[in-house]
Amino acid sequence: MTAIAIRTLNLSRNFGNVQAVDNLSLLIPKGIVFGFLGANGSGKTTTIRLLLGLLEPTSGRAEVLGFDTRSHSDKIRQCTGALLEHPGLYERLSAEDNLEFYGRVWRLPPAKRRSRIKELLNNMGLWHRRHQSVGGWSRGMKQKLAVARAMLHSPPLIFLDEPTTGLDPVAAAALRDELQEIVAREGVTVFLTTHNLVEAEKLCQQIGVIRQGKLLAVGHPDDLRASAGSPRIEIIGRGFTPKLLDWVRSQPLVSSVDINGNQLLITLLKQTSAAPLVRVLVQAGVEIEEVRKGSATLEEVFLTLMEVP
Ligand SMILES: Nc1ncnc2c1ncn2[C@@H]1O[C@H](COP(=O)(O)OP(=O)(O)OP(=O)(O)O)[C@@H](O)[C@H]1O
Ligand SMILES: [Mg+2]
Repeated sequence: MTAIAIRTLNLSRNFGNVQAVDNLSLLIPKGIVFGFLGANGSGKTTTIRLLLGLLEPTSGRAEVLGFDTRSHSDKIRQCTGALLEHPGLYERLSAEDNLEFYGRVWRLPPAKRRSRIKELLNNMGLWHRRHQSVGGWSRGMKQKLAVARAMLHSPPLIFLDEPTTGLDPVAAAALRDELQEIVAREGVTVFLTTHNLVEAEKLCQQIGVIRQGKLLAVGHPDDLRASAGSPRIEIIGRGFTPKLLDWVRSQPLVSSVDINGNQLLITLLKQTSAAPLVRVLVQAGVEIEEVRKGSATLEEVFLTLMEVP
């Protein structure tokens, strides 16, 4: 058994003169949540369709769970689950009947089908609504059911294309929590696209950033953040005088100083203790409420990557 879930090598696909996916080489290990980030039209959905074998690559190749996407797309679709743009639910059927229908499509034996449906509906907090027809459900509830549908046959790998888009913050958080729990319990690999960087940071052990079909960066969110920006110290307080700011600016490890109301943002050349700086500021009469050390946020990393020419 290979420990790699997805491997692509120079995978490319164009539509006319649009290069939707451009020489994409990726190695995604099993058992992680991989987050694929990129602006609208950057090639995320096209990549998923290529990986599922729903679309032929123009050049390059991809293997999913050891199967080649060109020659074994049927095998790939059997052992993966996918939530694409369309939730794939029958509005007139009840939640239970929707899953029942898909359970038959997947040829799950009746006892297994019933227990899996119950388990997933319970996990998603939808068991008590199982007899209601899905047409009358809110978007968030349908989205949860669609995720349950993608996981019904217990595939070891699932593709979720923007699962929380359009959900209110509470529904999105609930779906994220449930996803996290199911992933931890069942050990599945998830290929997720999202425009929500906080979500990506929370759920993903590895993140890939794509722009115009090209992979710009890949790594653990912490590593991306650490590689992207200089370390910094943020001090919230009152009483920063121009003279004090000049003094902070003149310190050897300080590369820049910005003041914004009562927030002082100090960018450093390298990681260092904030204590000596804070001590001098306090002695000079600054009233300090809070000191935070940190590196760039994932959003800053993302925006910086989008700006690179
Ligand atoms: N079937 C198609 N025919 C023609 N062009 C297509 C087709 N599918 C995708 N494209 C083009 O490929 C590019 C990538 O599209 P894709 O849907 O993969 O982007 P995305 O990253 O999923 O965007 P979004 O965040 O908006 O969902 C776009 O320029 C799009 O117009
Ligand atoms: Mg898309």
